[in-house]
Amino acid sequence: MVCIAINLLLLLSLTALSILSVTSATTIGVTYSTSFSVGVAPERVAEKVVSMKIPAVRLLDSNPAMIGAFAYTNVSLFLSIPNPLVPLLASNSAVAKQWVHRHVLPFYPHTKISIISVGNDDIADSPDVSRFLLRAMQHVRRSLKDHRIYKISVSTTFSLFNIVSMARPPSAARFQQPNGEVILRPILQFLERTNSSFLINLHPYSLYRSSWTFTIGFCLLQVSPYGFITDPATGIKYTNLFDVMLDSLVRSLADMGHAKIPVIVAETGWPSSGIDASEVDATLLYGRLFFTSLIAHLRGNGTTLKNRGPSEVYLFELLDKDCDGLRNWGLLYNNMTNKYGELVYAVDHHDPIIDPLVAGLVIGAILGVGVLIFGIRRGWTYEDFEKFFDFLRKILDHLKR
Ligand SMILES: *[C@@H]1O[C@H](CO)[C@@H](O)[C@H](O)[C@H]1NC(C)=O
Ligand SMILES: *[C@@H]1O[C@H](CO)[C@@H](O)[C@H](O)[C@H]1NC(C)=O
Ligand SMILES: *[C@@H]1O[C@H](CO)[C@@H](O)[C@H](O)[C@H]1NC(C)=O
Ligand SMILES: *[C@@H]1O[C@H](CO)[C@@H](O)[C@H](O)[C@H]1NC(C)=O
Repeated sequence: MVCIAINLLLLLSLTALSILSVTSATTIGVTYSTSFSVGVAPERVAEKVVSMKIPAVRLLDSNPAMIGAFAYTNVSLFLSIPNPLVPLLASNSAVAKQWVHRHVLPFYPHTKISIISVGNDDIADSPDVSRFLLRAMQHVRRSLKDHRIYKISVSTTFSLFNIVSMARPPSAARFQQPNGEVILRPILQFLERTNSSFLINLHPYSLYRSSWTFTIGFCLLQVSPYGFITDPATGIKYTNLFDVMLDSLVRSLADMGHAKIPVIVAETGWPSSGIDASEVDATLLYGRLFFTSLIAHLRGNGTTLKNRGPSEVYLFELLDKDCDGLRNWGLLYNNMTNKYGELVYAVDHHDPIIDPLVAGLVIGAILGVGVLIFGIRRGWTYEDFEKFFDFLRKILDHLKR
């Protein structure tokens, strides 16, 4: 009887825990590139990120001084290897070793490096990328493994426009061919096998400007009674362009049989000023609306596809560039003052009223005692309890999927 009781407690707790943890929040980070902020000391940037309580940073040019500045901060880093290095990494594993030697070994684990992207939108830079992208990723991964580093995953970053044919409805979106079969399929197999994530640059601003078929409110995540698109094939109601774009990717991944690979949005943003006067929608007001609404959306409800929201989203970008004639995408001006007031990036750890683990155990215990009493009253035999355990295990397996 004791054995049955313990079994019940465990299984019910696990089930409750799985249900509670399904709604995990998205981590919100920012992108940063040292090359456009030459006068700013790495320590100052790291200090600013910590003071803003930003939990994750994507370094577009993985400058070693910048990586070092994040030591002991708990800020997790997403590093990028520049495109020109990719063919070298692929043809010579010693180059991968050198890169790891210079950018990872001196800093890890004091600096929390979580993922390394081999290239950024490399497919646009060099269309014959298929020959070397995957091989370069494999070499970087092998170099990490040689140093017994297993927790840093290796991936590559794509831009949505260059790999997915956008479609209406979003459920009809697919990877562009022949790149889907030739370049993406082997990479997807690598990502799935190594528990890595799919990294995607996703810019509603560019799609808005190139097609003009969406209302500005839809692009800025302003929920309105008429501003939505319903996908007749899935019945999903989209209230903003970010979700439409993200789902186009998720659908394309599912079409390739890789629906389980987690998605990280490597950059998304809205500029507060454009290159010239024709960019009438690059304004301070629209920038503020986009960032505040996106953050609220990611913190509150995940995306439309509830359980398939992105695990991380990087806002483009921390600082305005330190030169004229470019779009200003920064959350901060280049003198480091807030452009949009205080935004809250960190997930509030006080959000759940009780810890999911405690909640899971308590719910498990209460249900367990209930089932035990119910079973004994009904005169259940040991086999009856076993059947019930099988039933619970099935639910658990289903939830884990
Ligand atoms: C980093 O996280 C650990 C564990 O959560 C905590 O004990 C430590 O104080 C944090 N350090 C900083 C600098 O926030
Ligand atoms: C991937 O994750 C699964 C489940 O979390 C684990 O069993 C497996 O060992 C991981 N594989 C690698 C290569 O890390
Ligand atoms: C989540 O979405 C529902 C309906 O889609 C809405 O009523 C609710 O206010 C949203 N919650 C947050 C925190 O955004
Ligand atoms: C920082 O720059 C912005 C925009 O150029 C300006 O409005 C603001 O006054 C500056 N703040 C400080 C403290 O210099």
